[in-house]
Amino acid sequence: MIDPRQRLIVALDVPSVPDAEAMVARLGDSVAFYKIGYELAYAGGLPFGQKLIDAGKQVFFDLKLHDIGNTVERGAASIARTGATFLTVHAYLQTMKAALQGRAGSNLRILGVTVLTSYDDADLAAAGYDFTVPELVAERAAQARDIGIDGLVSSAEEAASLRAMVGPTVALVTPGIRPAGADVGDQKRVMTPGEAIRAGADYLVVGRPVMRASDPKAVADAIVAEIANAAGA
Ligand code: C5P
Repeated sequence: MIDPRQRLIVALDVPSVPDAEAMVARLGDSVAFYKIGYELAYAGGLPFGQKLIDAGKQVFFDLKLHDIGNTVERGAASIARTGATFLTVHAYLQTMKAALQGRAGSNLRILGVTVLTSYDDADLAAAGYDFTVPELVAERAAQARDIGIDGLVSSAEEAASLRAMVGPTVALVTPGIRPAGADVGDQKRVMTPGEAIRAGADYLVVGRPVMRASDPKAVADAIVAEIANAAGA
């Protein structure tokens, strides 16, 4: 069983390293795991992530890689050398295989992104796919499982069906989490931390409910307590 505090991943969605440093300092020991996405990654977030790792934090680089196999493999190898914990790639077979090869021998775990949650059936049709969103999610999740992916990113709503499909060892990482009463923002389908854990999620990604709170540390502590409670820890 994973320590409940290691199951909360705070999305450091800020534009600069000083902003990120200030938030990490405020959160202190309450948060052990941070996600760095495009916004911060392209503004000094890669060396900053390295500093977090050197300071004993876990880091999830949400870079959603997708390129020719050789490029993905070498990119994943570079990320693996930082000591990061998670890296996302789009869930295309060639891309996932290359990333798994690139991280071989390291502690980095590769997460597949099946279908972006901003896509609906019409977007898929416009991109040339003859699948509905649930069909393509299922197809890519099965392919990911078959090649030994380390984990998948999914909405908490998909967690239960994905868990049934991929088995117990594939890590399920779910954004779209809102503590009861929190502002939903632009997320359309949300679950509370407890609901997501009970649905089979291993890790919860939480951004604005923590980052924009007047007391971020208290919100993070409350989420960890809810995770522990739901996990029966
Ligand atoms: O602020 P909020 O809690 O909505 O942040 C969620 C984080 O998870 C953001 O960094 C967002 O980019 C990411 N994410 C998401 N939905 C997905 C995939 C990633 O909200 N389907």
